[in-house]
Amino acid sequence: TVAAMAIGALLYWLWTDAKVSTVGKAPFDNALAIPPLAEPTVEKDGTRVFDLRMQAGETEFRDGVRTPTWGFNGSYLGPTLRAKRGEKVRVRVSNTLDEPSTVHWHGMHLPARMDGGPHQMVAPGATWTPHWTVDQPAATLWYHPHPHGRTEDHVRRGLAGLFLLDDDASGRLPLPKRYGVDDLPVVVQDVRFDGSRLAGDRGLMQNVGFLGDRTMVNGTLRPYRKVQDELIRLRLLNASTARTYAFGFADSRDFALIGTDGGLLQRPARMNRIQLSPGERAEIVVRMKPGERVMLRSFPQRNYGDEWQRRFNGGDDTFDVLELRAAERLRPSPELPGTLVSAPELPDGEQAVEARHFDLKRSGINGRAMDMGRIDETVTRGTTEVWTIRNTNGMPHNFHVHDVQFRVMEVNGKTPPPELRGRKDTVFVPHGVTMKLALRFTGPADPDVPYMYHCHLLYHEDEGMMGQFVVVEKGRPAGGPPPGHEGH
Ligand code: C2O
Ligand code: CU
Repeated sequence: TVAAMAIGALLYWLWTDAKVSTVGKAPFDNALAIPPLAEPTVEKDGTRVFDLRMQAGETEFRDGVRTPTWGFNGSYLGPTLRAKRGEKVRVRVSNTLDEPSTVHWHGMHLPARMDGGPHQMVAPGATWTPHWTVDQPAATLWYHPHPHGRTEDHVRRGLAGLFLLDDDASGRLPLPKRYGVDDLPVVVQDVRFDGSRLAGDRGLMQNVGFLGDRTMVNGTLRPYRKVQDELIRLRLLNASTARTYAFGFADSRDFALIGTDGGLLQRPARMNRIQLSPGERAEIVVRMKPGERVMLRSFPQRNYGDEWQRRFNGGDDTFDVLELRAAERLRPSPELPGTLVSAPELPDGEQAVEARHFDLKRSGINGRAMDMGRIDETVTRGTTEVWTIRNTNGMPHNFHVHDVQFRVMEVNGKTPPPELRGRKDTVFVPHGVTMKLALRFTGPADPDVPYMYHCHLLYHEDEGMMGQFVVVEKGRPAGGPPPGHEGH
């Protein structure tokens, strides 16, 4: 025990010292890259056809240093896909990598066989062509690979992109909405370089997964963006594999939160910090003054478990993320509307027909590690359920459910804060937290192909913190194991 205490003290000292901060270290003088909007071909019946090619390449993140990376239609990250509610979408996903992967539409309501989870593998050289009709409100969604056991690696190498949804209401609202002008995609990732390569090692004592020592936005290190409008909308996506951020501005000015994972809030909520765990999104609007520079920063976490765990998991780290540089003269922006949507489309927990419990542990959910051949839960199409998610595991986790946008009913028995009152598909569940969610499964039913629920700390997901559910018609049992996994 004496030896253990000595080692403990040494490790504590190391961790204390290992706090990462990029504040004031180097000027933010790289122009922010804006992912291009994908240009679909539009077929006679209005179907928008997109092409996404997974490819390997090299990216020059730092002058003169070529880093091997993966991307969609380019060497790193992917184009922004965009479609409107009611539109038909088809994506030709081709895989030119030398290993199988998938592309999952995170936050999208669509049939399970179009979902791009671990059962929809795309072999090297193959093309997969999912299609669906967009049937959900305007939102900031995203896409990324989901091969079981390999997701962290594939995302970390650069496979990720945004998928923006619009609807009639969002088109009419006087919000900043000129893509790349006053409506900026902000895809945040943390990275570390090992020579010219992107590091991916977790380090000896790291149990949340890979943590980098600096951040990038849209693949740009130390980025700045010139802006020319009074109000700037940032579509924040935490595309990191493990790190949770608490975003705010360096001067702690207020901003308005207008949207969460699955769409707009009923009304803008003023705040000065927004915490996002991996996979979560937030749309915020910030007011600029002429000629000023303001830094988007990630501050140390406030509710990241106990002190010990906080240091252990990077919760004390501080990053400068993106500098906004306002022009000397700014175009006036309309005031934010008091009401954005009449009420977000959310399930009503009062109508739940089923209650389920999910206990989050590093070793698996409800004591079981992911098995591709096992269906964990069977839900009935057209019904609402209440899911209780609990973390007593001593380390942070989060929880993501495919196909649906859910309502957070309670956090530790209390009414959720404004940032958890909108449409959500991913929630941060740090140690000591129990959350009650209301979910409505509107189908279509498919007893043979499961959707996933999992921790979106991708190392945890890869290691087995994932389960499978199928949606079936009332009175119909789930099918057997998913195709291709009969033997398990
Ligand atoms: Cu963003 Cu199951 O994933
Ligand atoms: Cu986890």
